[in-house]
Amino acid sequence: MSNALTIEHDVSLQAFNTFGLAARACHYLRVTGAADLAALGTDARLAGVPRFVLGGGSNVLLTRDVEALVLHMAIGGRAIVGEEGGNVLVRAGAGENWHDFVDYTLGQGLGGLENLSLIPGTVGAAPIQNIGAYGLEIKDVFHSLSVFDLANGAVRTMAAPECRFGYRDSVFKHADGANLVVLDVTFALPRAWQPNLRYAELAQAVLAAGIAAPTPRQVSDTVIAIRRRKLPDPREIGNAGSFFKNPVVPGEQCRALLARFPQLVHHAQPDGSEKLAAGWLIDQCGWKGKNMGAAGVYPKQALVLVNNGGATGAELQALARAIQQDVRERFGVELEPEPVFV
Ligand code: EPU
Repeated sequence: MSNALTIEHDVSLQAFNTFGLAARACHYLRVTGAADLAALGTDARLAGVPRFVLGGGSNVLLTRDVEALVLHMAIGGRAIVGEEGGNVLVRAGAGENWHDFVDYTLGQGLGGLENLSLIPGTVGAAPIQNIGAYGLEIKDVFHSLSVFDLANGAVRTMAAPECRFGYRDSVFKHADGANLVVLDVTFALPRAWQPNLRYAELAQAVLAAGIAAPTPRQVSDTVIAIRRRKLPDPREIGNAGSFFKNPVVPGEQCRALLARFPQLVHHAQPDGSEKLAAGWLIDQCGWKGKNMGAAGVYPKQALVLVNNGGATGAELQALARAIQQDVRERFGVELEPEPVFV
């Protein structure tokens, strides 16, 4: 069976990463099902070559060509698969486009994912990053996922605790999850839906539109409008969404910073720590709209780094380092990138 796999070589990844960086994959396999991964395990041609899993490419910074075998996840399929405790269970293959999937659930009359409308990337990547926006994270509507373990070829189901979801984080970003390839994800969407308008900007926008009791579709449309105002469309300007995580600092450090910078944007966390707005910190350092070569800081949102055309991953990395250094010197705060550097 193993010779059925079509492994390609020296493949351009430019169309497969949202920064539009011109890196190449030494070896490349389009994965359309678990059977491809199983066949790979018995294929002698690339035994011992490291594997690199690529989803929608919206969370990677390709600083050079990839020497590994790139496993490009293209597993499709979406379906309602059951009901459980007042929730409808909906499953999608890892390779499905995230926003198209959100749109599909809305089309089925199901609310629950609308706050995560228009986030670039795939369904399979969503739990890895525990994507979040406008008061909702994947973990809030997650049921389970299935994975293929590259170490032993086993397929298994994982529930939320095993995924160890955190802010833009999960087990899949750590050493003990590094061999796990997400095959499909199942979400639990409530039959008795209520709008989630905890995020002030979203609540205000719904109010401003004069909508008293919004439908899931109306919340989705509002989120889409807000995102379009603030964030660049990767099809027009290469980017990976927020480039840095919002840093979480001890309450004491936040209070000391507030004494010096009363405008500091901060949000108290349940454990007493404070989440700072990285966009505000970067903006204060004067980076908004600035460029270094073809890499730049998006003029409408300082948290988003962009490829203004022909930028290299190394240029973006240099820009990111310069920003980190300025924020460190001015505020004593360490910014951690969201994308994975390759
Ligand atoms: N701000 C500035 N200048 C800027 C950007 C932001 O002063 O250039 C200030 C804003 O005025 C606001 C605060 O910083 O007071 C926070 O900004 P915003 O509400 O736009 O959200 P964010 O913290 O920049 C986060 C997520 C986004 C998510 C939005 C909405 C992270 C790293 N980013 O952005 O997620 O869409 O909230 O929920 O958590 C992503 O992860 O790729 C992403 C886009």
